[in-house]
Order: sequence, then structure tokens, then C-alpha cells
Amino acid sequence: MKRVGVLTSGGDTPGMNAAVRAVVKTAIDKDMAVMGIYRGYQGLMDGRIKQLQYTDVHNIIESGGTVLRTARSALFKEPQGLEKAIKVISAYGIDGIIVIGGDGSFRGALALDRAGVPTIGIPGTIDNDMGYTDFTIGFDTAVNNVINEIAKIRDTMRAHDRVGVVEVMGRNCGDIALWAGIAGPADITLLPERDGSWEDAANKLAANKLRGRLTSMVIIAEGAGHAEDFAHYVREHTDVEIKPVVLSYIQRGGNPSAMDRILATRMGIRAVNALAIDKGGRAVGIRNNKIIDVSLEEAIGTADVFDEELYDYNTFLTRF
Ligand code: F6P
Repeated sequence: MKRVGVLTSGGDTPGMNAAVRAVVKTAIDKDMAVMGIYRGYQGLMDGRIKQLQYTDVHNIIESGGTVLRTARSALFKEPQGLEKAIKVISAYGIDGIIVIGGDGSFRGALALDRAGVPTIGIPGTIDNDMGYTDFTIGFDTAVNNVINEIAKIRDTMRAHDRVGVVEVMGRNCGDIALWAGIAGPADITLLPERDGSWEDAANKLAANKLRGRLTSMVIIAEGAGHAEDFAHYVREHTDVEIKPVVLSYIQRGGNPSAMDRILATRMGIRAVNALAIDKGGRAVGIRNNKIIDVSLEEAIGTADVFDEELYDYNTFLTRF
């Protein structure tokens, strides 16, 4: 393997740059050339490709977003899209590709691999919704971003004796909400994996108010509903004063945490090491703090596992 391509795809995530940096440094160290593919699969089809040197990745470990830019491409899912990409790959003499992204990006990686381009996936999504790996790059930073914002929201809620309901991302996965709910902490956490009753939640807020606890914090995962709707429901059924906040992209941007920088670095190195021995069709992950790789098929086919133990802890901790 002489020439490796690297791209980031789907939602950006803090730590993608750390992974790109590790890929570039490891590959150059192994006498491989690294081709940066800009704007994900769309950029691959369009030939937006430039060779990367050490100097291109100096200090990018500390920045959020992705220096390679990203995109969600509908065309790449079509056979013509794949065909276009394969032509570009061969024109640039690229022998293997590393894709940093989530589940959808891994499906693209598998298509490339099946078309004869050895491809490795690195899990980059704040959602932490990939079952084959304990953690995805960006999740830790997103949770930290959420708890930092909750602290600010709590200050102003407390000043007015109000309740705050904070909507967090995660698509259909409640991990960001659950972790931020425990660490934040929140008094009520509503998750897509559990059908949390809004009636019970509203009753709890009303009971808190009755016993003099005027300020409470609710976290709602976007997969479980919207902060605005929940606030409306509470206002209709209680006399609690509640304010909705949607954290949105604030939780996805910003400098990656140390955990994400190190996870991304370990995964980037592992991805290049796999390609260096012509091992394609793999997804890098972490299990029990060991970096692993499994087939892309297994990575895509493994359902995400909800952490029941953590959920039970949260239930117990919020009882008081
Ligand atoms: O998958 C990452 C994620 O941030 C989700 O948590 C969220 O639902 C979605 O992407 C938002 O997508 P977009 O960047 O297209 O608005």
C-alpha cells in the first residue's frame, strides 16, 4: 500500500481532526503518501483531493469540526456515484481509504471495499450509537459541552425560580442525554430508549415546587421529543414556570476533550496499521479500553446496546 486516502463524512465531531492527524503522521512514517479527500464522499466523486504533509496537521488535534470538511451525499448511495468515485480513486492512484464518520458513512465504506478499494472505518459521531464499539469519537466532548451549558442555564433558572428543559442531540440514541443527566446532573432525563411519561415528569416538577424546590433541570434527548413541546405540556398541566433550551450545534462544536483526542489518535494509528498490511473492510473500535477492529459488516450489523446499568443508576439517583 503506497497511497492512502482519508475523508470525514456525515455530522462533524470533535476529535475528527485528531484522527486525521494520527492517520497522516502514521502513514508518512510508514512511507505512504496521504491524500486528503475534502467534503466526504461528495468531494471524492468530485475529485477534491490534495496530498497532506506533516505541516498540514500541526496542532489540529486541538480543534473541533473537521479540516477536511464534511458532507452528506445522496448521490454516493447510487451505483453511478460509486462508479464515479472508483474512477477518481484510480485516477489518483489511491490504494486504500480511511473513512471517519458514523453509521451511514460506514455503509459507504463497505460499498467502496466491496468495489475493490480496501477501506477502513473509524467511528466519528457524537451520538455514540454504534453497537460494536464502546465509544465513538466526539461523544465525550459532546457530553462535556452539554454539562457546561447546563451549569450556565441552571444559574439563571435558579435566579428566577424556574425549571429548565434542555434538548440535546443524539438522533435515536439517548446516550448524550443519559450521561449528561447523570453528570449534569438533571432531575429528570427523557430518553428514546425508555418511554418516559411526560405526565409523571410534570407531576414530579409540581411536587418539587410544592416542597419548596423551585428549580429543577430536565434533559430531553431529541429522539424522545422536543423541549418546546415538553415545556408546553408542563405549562398546561401544572403551575410550574419552565423554559425550554435547544442546545443544538453548540454541543457538537468546540475543542475536543482529552479523552476524544486520545481515542481518535489510537484509532487513527490502528486504521493505518491495518491498511499497511492490506487489511481492508474493517471498522476500528474500542472495547474494554482495547482498540479492536471488526469487519465493516459486523460494525454496521451490530445493534446499539442501551446501558441498562447506567439507566438504573440514573433512576435511583433522581429519586430524591
Ligand atoms: O449524527 C450527529 C448529529 O449531530 C445528530 O445528533 C443530529 O440529530 C444530527 O447529526 C444533525 O444533523 P445536521 O448536522 O444535518 O443538522
